[in-house]
Amino acid sequence: MRRGDVPVGPVALAGTSLYTGRILTFRCDQPNSMTKTRVLTGITTTGTPHLGNYVGAIKPAIEASQRPDVDSFYFLADLHALIKCQDPRRVQQSRLEIAATWLALGLDTDNAVFYRQSDIPEIPELTWMLSCVCAKGLMNRAHAYKAAVAENEELGHQDMDKGVSMGLFGYPVLMAADILMFNANKVPVGRDQIQHIEMARDMGGRFNHLYKGQYFTLPEAVVDDKVEVLNGLDGRKMSKSYNNTIPLFVSEKKLQKLVRKIKTNSLEPGEPKDPDSCTLFQIFSAFASAEETAAMRTEYANGIGWGAAKDRVFEYLNAHLREPRERYNALLEDPGHIENVLKQGAEKARAEAQPLMERVREVAGLGRFV
Ligand code: TRP
Repeated sequence: MRRGDVPVGPVALAGTSLYTGRILTFRCDQPNSMTKTRVLTGITTTGTPHLGNYVGAIKPAIEASQRPDVDSFYFLADLHALIKCQDPRRVQQSRLEIAATWLALGLDTDNAVFYRQSDIPEIPELTWMLSCVCAKGLMNRAHAYKAAVAENEELGHQDMDKGVSMGLFGYPVLMAADILMFNANKVPVGRDQIQHIEMARDMGGRFNHLYKGQYFTLPEAVVDDKVEVLNGLDGRKMSKSYNNTIPLFVSEKKLQKLVRKIKTNSLEPGEPKDPDSCTLFQIFSAFASAEETAAMRTEYANGIGWGAAKDRVFEYLNAHLREPRERYNALLEDPGHIENVLKQGAEKARAEAQPLMERVREVAGLGRFV
């Protein structure tokens, strides 16, 4: 099986538990895995989607949702957003922009369940249940928390937990609830998130063991090495934390301006240029077909000038983004529509979350008396 392929049917999952250090194997025989593979992923709503998000996450997710053997759950991780961002306007705006982006790019919500995390009250409820079976020591090893502690140490602070909220500390538990709630088989994520999926497996396995049943499917992280990580304006990885992004749906004018800002070297027109070390070429090839990419390669070898190359890339991107940009702008004008779409998604999601949560409450001793 190729990397990134999603197996169909009951799958045996294996991994090393962070908790015990032992190799664990589990069969997941939840009903959904008999027919379709459930793919679930969340998008933290703190920023504006950029070309890197599109190439690395949105495009592959939308494509996966079109496969007949895949059952996809995509959600706005807005409870996660509160960990990093306490600016309500930014959280609200980002939720709207991200929802509009996915819809404008063609996510078919009849095919995929698309919802806001904060519309599913069962998620924070499950978070608590998992917190009670999750070792604190496991959270001590979570990399976001460790990074915060390391920073305090570096700055010479007395209190190693300075600036660390319980939200940040327990972040992997919320993420585990997101995943376990819907019995996800595959969770496409960036490399930095693999640890959290492993922790989700750990919590799910521990709950299953403690309460003697197969309540939760144990998820597997999917990190697709084929998916490109785009570079940004300055040549480093495109990321909002580097402030080097090209937002997907900026105006035509702004897009042109940003493309012109992409860092290139000082070679003159007529001098052959190396496409493989060039951010401009990399961005182009992430969108272009194999033939178009090969043609651009020849242009580089023939010494195309940077101005001309940038115009070419701008024209190309603009032609591809024009239609979705129009849809995006129309969607932003109609937040009521987006609200409805997400509410319908939440209804579908809750139809699964409620019975699961009821079962979980019951096995833990929180069932009804009669
Ligand atoms: N923490 C993830 C990130 O920062 C976002 C996220 C939240 C997520 N819940 C999730 C991803 C559940 C996958 C599954 O990228």
